[in-house]
Amino acid sequence: MSQTLAVLGGITAEQFLTEYWQKKPLLVRNALPEIKNLLEPADVMELALDENINARLIKQKDKDPNHWSVKSSPLMKADFQKMPKLWTLLIQAVDHYSFDLAELWKKFPFIPQWRRDDIMVSYASKGGSVGKHFDFYDVFLVQGHGHRRWQLGQMCDADSEIVAGQPLKLLPEIQIHFDEILAPGDLLYVPPGLAHYGVAEDDCLTYSFGFRMPNVAEMMDRVSDKFAVDQLLKNPLTDILREKMTSVGQISQTELEYLKTKLLTQLQNPAVLEDALMSLMSESKYPENIPEAEAIGSGDLEQALDQGYSLMLEPASRLLYTEVETKLLFWANGEGICISDDFAPLLKQLADGNLILLDEKLARPEMLEDIVNLLNESILMLLPAVDTE
Ligand code: SIN
Ligand code: CO
Repeated sequence: MSQTLAVLGGITAEQFLTEYWQKKPLLVRNALPEIKNLLEPADVMELALDENINARLIKQKDKDPNHWSVKSSPLMKADFQKMPKLWTLLIQAVDHYSFDLAELWKKFPFIPQWRRDDIMVSYASKGGSVGKHFDFYDVFLVQGHGHRRWQLGQMCDADSEIVAGQPLKLLPEIQIHFDEILAPGDLLYVPPGLAHYGVAEDDCLTYSFGFRMPNVAEMMDRVSDKFAVDQLLKNPLTDILREKMTSVGQISQTELEYLKTKLLTQLQNPAVLEDALMSLMSESKYPENIPEAEAIGSGDLEQALDQGYSLMLEPASRLLYTEVETKLLFWANGEGICISDDFAPLLKQLADGNLILLDEKLARPEMLEDIVNLLNESILMLLPAVDTE
């Protein structure tokens, strides 16, 4: 991976990862020109009213723009009546609704899929913003329709002062060292913790390609879920060897050490830890966006062979794998999945974002069964020939 990338303004992925990723911002003019006309403000308004969408409508009072209100989805037409001058509409996971937008993740091949969160779109009227703030989050902000002025400031952390009494986590001030107007197709990478403030210059759509990291508390939670269902571990432990009497109310340090050792011994089990972590990482943040599949059988699939269909990952699903030597293990949407050894290398390609042509190479019964199961669970989807041209 040493060629320069247009999305990074002509630097290599390695240079970006060493110099910028999680460290400092990067502005790239005309990095993603294909995003310009992908959605219009009217499309975003329509999406906001979809009952499954995850959206927030943020308003600032006309008389006091420092007074904010947030209405979360479901949003109704009535929520858009009597609008103040300054407002922003945020819609999460638009990549689950637009294949063209989901395809743009491929412009960021230097960050693995498990780190991806979703693509949020924000639509704001002239002057609209979500305030001065910071996120614990890597984000590529890409300008779609219209223009937005971005100001960047100081690095913040959990101790940074937050404005009291507002429904958003806002910073009282930012110390501006960057001030630029982004036009359609321009990109700004903002590392976690960096204060930022984006104000719409006109009717404006901004896409946030966001990247998530799990926290230790949620990892612990999944690990404990996995151990909690292990029947063997439900057996009471045998008691510590007792030779002399101890105080009745006390648990001695020796007893506590014995219990802790039993616990820590189990925690050394790498298979359970990996299963817990992979399950967590493959969880969808918006499982309600995973569409109900049209039930299909192996016979239907056999008939579809050589008709020009391709298999691809369903954009709202998450499919991840580990590879140890030649052994591939898969997790999708929060659970481990079993598939035949023959299909594993192809499923790996699908998880890497490639399309697989549905042809005779897949004609073996166990492969067809794997594909049918994955299609019926909406982990994979079929793309008609016309869409791949
Ligand atoms: C926005 O596009 O208005 C908000 C994006 C962000 O600040 O992270
Ligand atoms: Co932000």
